Amino acid sequence: MLESGYFLNIYLYFGRHFSGLLDMAGAQQHCLRGASKHQDQKVLTDKHIHMSTEEIIKQFEPAQHNLLNILHAVQNSHPQNYLTEQALEETARYLKLTKSSVYGVARYYTMFSLKPRGRHLIRLCVSPVCELLKANDILAILQKHLGIGVGETTSDGLFTLEFSECLGQCQEAPSMMINDQVYNGLDEEETGRVLEEIRKKK
Ligand code: FES
Repeated sequence: MLESGYFLNIYLYFGRHFSGLLDMAGAQQHCLRGASKHQDQKVLTDKHIHMSTEEIIKQFEPAQHNLLNILHAVQNSHPQNYLTEQALEETARYLKLTKSSVYGVARYYTMFSLKPRGRHLIRLCVSPVCELLKANDILAILQKHLGIGVGETTSDGLFTLEFSECLGQCQEAPSMMINDQVYNGLDEEETGRVLEEIRKKK
């Protein structure tokens, strides 16, 4: 199986020479499944939330194949779940990449956002198997509970609702992902319970 690092290296190479020419459809799913074995495997913990962007970046080796991991860690540490201009610039400087390469990667992958989002990112799978197993009903339940549409953020800044491609959980569809946690076999009761549980933790 091709790895995320493979696509990233291609992107960075072509980005320098033929910016905008590369089609990397499908690569994001490889990244969502986890970083390449060649990348530093660092997990964002609660302690990172209180670290500065610089401190988080320095948790990783200054190697270009760590770009996706760094962007993930920095985005996850931001209370509004997005990549600030400053974070992108610091990352580019640390990895000795051009700013436009780093912006290009951040813009390409929909898992990254350059705009503020809710603290908890809900990604509902709408690929064929989930769709067949009534992902639309789950969407209606989420919208009812949250009072927002797709692409919107709740007024308390707690949740943003987005669609996702297949999460690789088809055997237990319908599925959704909230931050890094996958929830399967959703129905009205389970969906409501999950949201309530997160609300209680805040
Ligand atoms: S189609 Fe939804 S998890 Fe695969």
